[in-house]
Amino acid sequence: MHKCLSILFLLLMKMYSCKSSFPLVVNTWPWPQATDAAWNVLKSPSTALDAVVAGCAKCEEDQCDGSVGFGGSPDESGETTLDAMIMDGSTMDIGAVGCLRKVKNAIGVARHVLENTEHTLLVGELATEFAKEMGFKEETLETNHSRNIWQTWKDNNCQPNFHANVKPDPKSSCGPYTPIMTQTKKVMSERNVDISQSNHDTIGMIVVDEKGNFVAGTSTNGLTHKIPGRVGDSPIPGAGAYAENGVGAAVATGDGDVMMRFLPAYQIVELMHNGATPTEAASKALERILKFYPKFNGALVGVRNDGEIGAACVGFPKFEFCVKNETSADTIIHGVDCKNSCTDWKVKQIRLIAVGLVLQWTFSL
Ligand SMILES: *[C@@H]1O[C@H](CO)[C@@H](O)[C@H](O)[C@H]1NC(C)=O
Ligand SMILES: *[C@@H]1O[C@H](CO)[C@@H](O)[C@H](O)[C@H]1NC(C)=O
Repeated sequence: MHKCLSILFLLLMKMYSCKSSFPLVVNTWPWPQATDAAWNVLKSPSTALDAVVAGCAKCEEDQCDGSVGFGGSPDESGETTLDAMIMDGSTMDIGAVGCLRKVKNAIGVARHVLENTEHTLLVGELATEFAKEMGFKEETLETNHSRNIWQTWKDNNCQPNFHANVKPDPKSSCGPYTPIMTQTKKVMSERNVDISQSNHDTIGMIVVDEKGNFVAGTSTNGLTHKIPGRVGDSPIPGAGAYAENGVGAAVATGDGDVMMRFLPAYQIVELMHNGATPTEAASKALERILKFYPKFNGALVGVRNDGEIGAACVGFPKFEFCVKNETSADTIIHGVDCKNSCTDWKVKQIRLIAVGLVLQWTFSL
């Protein structure tokens, strides 16, 4: 039964692998400007840490897809808040911010958490106070664009939203809501929101210097229409990113509320530690999630200590990621086709069962 499930999951997911030398920059989604920004810093006498900060900051400035940086993904109150993390695989030190308000350069603040504190994660308004102390400017993250998204949502009875088991019915009314006591479990398929690709892109970046030092980082403005205070997987160590020198690093993008329950980036690094290729590791980490959330969508990228790069994705129509090393003059964008939906899977499942039955019947004759 377990084998059978594994085969089904393999059909469900699409994978990618190749090998590269160091130094190396890899990041999620077709955002080569971020890759180039990181690469250019890496080629000056700077560290992999500087490169990850420069690469993610480039996407924060460019507002990549509206899902990184200011002016995107307004929450229910119309505010944009940011999540970011940076992890240094040579020291296992991490700096992260969650639900950071009113500061544009979230990855920069995360770096100060790493370098100027003994903490790992600062959140909300108090993270803003810390950022100001570190010299960052306090400014609004709202733009006309984000105000428009919020107004349209408000005019549409606050649809979609992320509330569950409350009254009035969140599928037709705005809040405020009160909880209803219920024995029914939440069902993923009833999830109110279309978790579309553009609703949860995250930049996840892995930089390896020529000595094999791994640094991984993330930056995002999270989910559009999130409940104020929500923090996604991006600033959670082992969920959005993980790095360990001598083993490798991994980054994740996708439905963060689900992904952070499984620590997929940590799983990839751990599986690589136990001998898996990055592709196998990424597929296995997705499999674990799919067992519980078959409609989940997400993509994982891993880089191993020997330069092997692997990726796997599910649920998105397509997942792309960028790679830059010494050979490629330009950043190369690699595409992975992901199987689209559960329907695909079910059709395959039925076919497989049919084939299985025929085989069984043939052999039993
Ligand atoms: C650079 O990366 C590409 C994948 O984008 C890979 O095919 C190529 O072999 C790598 N070059 C080196 C020198 O590792
Ligand atoms: C934003 O909207 C306001 C009022 O509608 C307008 O005056 C302003 O020029 C707009 N700003 C930009 C950057 O488009």
